[in-house]
Amino acid sequence: MRHCLPTRVARRLILPLCATAGLLAANAQAVTPAAAPTPISNGLALTPPMGWSSWNQFGDRISEQLVLETMAALESSGLRDAGYVYVNIDDGWQHYKAERRSAPLEADPAKFPHGIRWLADQAHAHGFRLGLYSGPGQTTCAGYTGSEGHEAQDAAMFASWGIDHLKYDSCCSHKDAPEAEVRRVVGLMGRALRAQAPRQAVVYHACHCGWADIAAWAGDLGVNQWRIGQDISDDFDYPGHREKYYFDVLDMLDAGIALGRHAGPGHWNDFDMLIVGLGGRSRELVGAGASNVEYRTHFSLWAMMPSPLLVGADVRHLDADSLATLSNAEVIAVNQDPAGHAADKVRDDGVLQVYAKELSDGSIAVALLNRGSATADMTVSPRRDLALPWDSYRVRDLWRHADLGTFTIPFTTEVISHEARVLRLYPVAKGH
Ligand code: GAL
Repeated sequence: MRHCLPTRVARRLILPLCATAGLLAANAQAVTPAAAPTPISNGLALTPPMGWSSWNQFGDRISEQLVLETMAALESSGLRDAGYVYVNIDDGWQHYKAERRSAPLEADPAKFPHGIRWLADQAHAHGFRLGLYSGPGQTTCAGYTGSEGHEAQDAAMFASWGIDHLKYDSCCSHKDAPEAEVRRVVGLMGRALRAQAPRQAVVYHACHCGWADIAAWAGDLGVNQWRIGQDISDDFDYPGHREKYYFDVLDMLDAGIALGRHAGPGHWNDFDMLIVGLGGRSRELVGAGASNVEYRTHFSLWAMMPSPLLVGADVRHLDADSLATLSNAEVIAVNQDPAGHAADKVRDDGVLQVYAKELSDGSIAVALLNRGSATADMTVSPRRDLALPWDSYRVRDLWRHADLGTFTIPFTTEVISHEARVLRLYPVAKGH
């Protein structure tokens, strides 16, 4: 347990207070500065992108019909209006399962009979943005034609189709490549995409599964989001890694929590697509599924980090609990907060952990996470955990949609196994 942590939360708000008190003096130099604005910016993704991606549920079994039905479901369920506007077609849209040197990159006419340009027009007419997928290798992860050697040509083609988001996946083709080579291929497509502006502005996702220290440098290359870990599995806390590869929700949290300093408006740590609603029924992902409480916790943590929120389930058949989870406007607001601060782990008592971040209105979002198997009482104290000089503060519960009162003492509440209680703390009276 630590006191008056040199966290981003503490540093922004009360470093002078702690330093005066002598509590942070030794640590103050060690605090890493918050991410500076990237030298290259396309002005996009000022908050984490929200939408849907085809991969987690469907793998490469995708089609124009699926995308149209997905957009209709996002619209009728209210998810589009809740912010889920990117409809991202992942691997499997391409015509050929072949190396690029022997086959062109074009849409599979059986899956996408009207072509991608037509589909982008449909998306735009309905208030969506269309995303597409490629990679810097001869082939993609699923073995389809990649972009190697044709980066400028492909970027121009994507722009001419009206594509708004590109996931550029080097997880397989460049798995063991040295950092310099990964930087080279990520930079190459980044420049090719930026060259399409102002005709078409494209959100750029460099998917490298967290390797080659990508979080440390991708923002500087103008990348809008980058994966911080290997593929997610449909599990909350699987012992070890499924197939010695996949990350569950808690693995992803642990892999990404120290990377928050690299994130900010326009450049985000990506904790991978959401598994909410998969229920162990995915046709693509491994995993046994999670309980509704665990999916809610997963969603809460992705909101806190903050990660892009890309629904991975079949939204045409979403159960009521999953829809309610994905639609929680108060938790979405924590994710979409314009300040774009990342959460810190401000308290770690083994399986009981407290995460916090400052929001743009000066309130603090707090997640009380119980990773253990038994219900526990958990406490957050603005003074002790956040080093905030608050004499009294109001507590709002973002899942119960209720104000819990005004407090002058630490706030304590019951948290069940695998739950994250998400609170928003507002100062009422400040002291010294
Ligand atoms: C993986 C990637 C997945 C998915 C898949 C497609 O490398 O991590 O998210 O895009 O490739 O083949």
